[in-house]
Amino acid sequence: MELFKRVDEVRTWSRRTRAAGLTVGFVPTMGFLHEGHLSLMRQAREKCDRVAASIFVNPMQFGPKEDLAAYPRDLDRDLERMSSVPVDVVFHPDPEEVYPPGYQTRVEVTDVTRDLCGRYRPGHFTGVATVVLKLFHIVEPDLAIFGEKDYQQLVTIKRMARDLNLDVRVEGGVTVREPDGLAMSSRNTYLSGEERKSARALSSSLGLARDMVAAGQRDPARIIEAVRRHIEDHPHTRVEYAELVDPETMQAVDRIGPRTLLVLSVHVGRARLIDNAVLTAS
Ligand code: PAJ
Repeated sequence: MELFKRVDEVRTWSRRTRAAGLTVGFVPTMGFLHEGHLSLMRQAREKCDRVAASIFVNPMQFGPKEDLAAYPRDLDRDLERMSSVPVDVVFHPDPEEVYPPGYQTRVEVTDVTRDLCGRYRPGHFTGVATVVLKLFHIVEPDLAIFGEKDYQQLVTIKRMARDLNLDVRVEGGVTVREPDGLAMSSRNTYLSGEERKSARALSSSLGLARDMVAAGQRDPARIIEAVRRHIEDHPHTRVEYAELVDPETMQAVDRIGPRTLLVLSVHVGRARLIDNAVLTAS
C-alpha cells in the first residue's frame, strides 16, 4: 500500500494504472475508519483492478460552529485497517495541498441539497461537492463508491456527476451497523455510555416505521409523529428532522409510495447522528 500526500503523485499513479488497462475504484473518506468505510473499499476491490482511498478532513464542509477541530483522527490505525482490504493507494493530503492560498472556487448542487441536512448545515454540501469534484479530478477513478448512510450526499454526488458530465460511475454501498442496529459513524465516538444506549432509537425507529407501512399505514404525518415520539422517549435525544422523501429528489412526499425514504437527524448528547431507510409499499 502506498501513501501519497501530493496531488501529482496520485495522478501519476492513476494515469499509469489506467494506461496499463487497469480500472481504478475510489472511496473518499475523512478517516477514523470503521467497517462501513471498509465495506465500501471491499466493494471497490470486487469491481475494480486497483483501489484508491482518500483520508481528508475537509474544512470546507464544516460550519463555523461544527466539529472540525474535534473530528477524530488516527492515521496509523486507518492505514492498518485499509491494508486488510487491501487498498492499493491512500491519498492523505494536507489542507494546503487541497486549498492552496488564493483558493476561491466552489461547486453548488442546488435542489437536492436544499432541505434536510442542507437546511441545518448551510454550505455543507457545497463543501462536499467541491472536494469530491477535486478528488475525482486528482484520482480520475472509473468507479467511486459512497455510503447510503449519507443518502443525501450520495444523491448530490450522483447529480453532480450527471450534470457536469463526469466520466466516473458513482455507486452506493449499504449501511453497515453495529450489532444493536446503530449505523456505524466516526461521530459515534462522541457518545457517552448512556447516550450510546439512546442512540439505538434511530435504527429502532426505522424498524417501527417499516412495521407501520407493512400494517398498511400510508400517511407520512402519522409515521413521522410515531418516529419522533419513539426517539424522544429516549434520554439525551433531540430530533433535528424526521421526514419522508422521494429518494431521487429528496422532496417530501404526501403519501407513502413504492419507494419512500425515511431520513432522520438526531442530536444525541453532543453528537449529531443521521440514519435512513427505504420504505416500500405495494
Ligand atoms: P465520511 O463520513 O468519512 O464517510 C466516507 C464514506 O463512508 C461516505 O461515502 C459515507 O457515506 C460512508 N459511510 C459512513 N458510514 C457508513 C456506514 N455505516 N456504512 C456504509 N458506509 C458508510 O462522507 C464523508 O466522509 C465526506 O463527506 C466525504 C465524502 C469524504 C467528502 O469529504
